[in-house]
Amino acid sequence: MIKLFLHPSQIVTVDTKGKNIKRGTEMNDLSVVTGHSLLIENNLIKDFIPDASVKKIFPDEILDVKDKIILPGFTECHTHTAFAGSRSDEFRQMLRGIHYEEIAKAGGGINTTVNAVRNLSFDELVNICRPRVENFISQGVTTLEIKSGYGLDFENEIKLLKVINYLNTIFKIDIIPTFLGAHTFPKEFKNDHKGYVDLIVEKMLPYIAENNLAEFCDGFCEKTAFSANEIDKIFSKAAGLGLGIKLHTEQFNSIGGIDAALKYNAVSVDHLEVLKQQDLGKLTGSNTVAVLLPGVSFFLNYDYAPARKLIDSNAIVALATDFNPGSSHISGLAFIMSLAALKMNMTVEETISAVTINSAKALNLSEDRGSIEIGKRADLAVFNTNDFSDIVYSIGKNLNYMTIKNGNVIYSEPTRLGGKN
Ligand code: NIG
Ligand code: FE
Repeated sequence: MIKLFLHPSQIVTVDTKGKNIKRGTEMNDLSVVTGHSLLIENNLIKDFIPDASVKKIFPDEILDVKDKIILPGFTECHTHTAFAGSRSDEFRQMLRGIHYEEIAKAGGGINTTVNAVRNLSFDELVNICRPRVENFISQGVTTLEIKSGYGLDFENEIKLLKVINYLNTIFKIDIIPTFLGAHTFPKEFKNDHKGYVDLIVEKMLPYIAENNLAEFCDGFCEKTAFSANEIDKIFSKAAGLGLGIKLHTEQFNSIGGIDAALKYNAVSVDHLEVLKQQDLGKLTGSNTVAVLLPGVSFFLNYDYAPARKLIDSNAIVALATDFNPGSSHISGLAFIMSLAALKMNMTVEETISAVTINSAKALNLSEDRGSIEIGKRADLAVFNTNDFSDIVYSIGKNLNYMTIKNGNVIYSEPTRLGGKN
């Protein structure tokens, strides 16, 4: 099956010349192609056809994308989409000046969501997650990571991972499951941290690896959550079982998470709002991706991660929503790009590199996606504009027109309202 995307205003290739990552000044180079149509064959990018030669091509299907632009499908590399319940009452407490960490210390926060998740069945959780996944797809997301981390006991962590794996079978995009049993200590282990770490290491991780329920093992290295030592014990087991490593770290306090993650060649370290200069240096030239989550800084109204310093020192920087009910109840990836530009001084081009090739790298998937290069998967997002800047400039607006996964159109913008005929 050969398809031609005819006469787009721009093809924003995010070309990496085969390197499959962008660091430093490379993030600013999107290699925008104009005056060409895009040919795909089956599920792969086949060729760029100069407008003058288009008539010589006889595809099975032509998709008219005049006055539109084509980007690589977005990879959303850090979400907690599989949550239940609402934390709007905690949101209201935060608006009155009570800090997110105080709410957590008082037994709320993540544990509020854990209570809600434990009360729901597999089917109920699937039904809650469905529209959230659809929402990501409607934004041009073709690969979506979802973490567990709201079960925090054997039964419920496994239930959440099964929900995430099931979502992957019912949606055409790739949904990547991450095990986040080390999100925080559940109330029954409040005074027995060793007992909970042992449960993760001895029971949860072996079962998850044996049943192939997760690609990655994540954790939260923070004063109110896990120490660097506890994370080390968990990662040692997870890495031995063949899981990739990710870590929430340097969100509020710097307590050794960067070293704990780098020791296991983590694919990413995420958050980094309070990253110290000496730790920043460790990410320079490293293959571990710095996943920045400016939605958290916006939502909790505190410091932004040092995106500029990270990019200027040649770290690989990606962006994600961190969509969750407590610290970033934000599911719009383009809004996150706008925040990154306005609040972290990233260029428009850098924000695009950060949600395509570099976020794919943060899931170990950039070899076959994240840029429009011949031979890569035809995972594409078509936007309703002539200029890619508009995606970041049109704050809070979804400009996505069409989402294409493996060469198939899986979403197109609903018909405009208001027409008389
Ligand atoms: O990435 N930092 C820890 N975990 C999530 C928040 C989860 C929650 O508050 O429910 C985060 O910010
Ligand atoms: Fe997170």
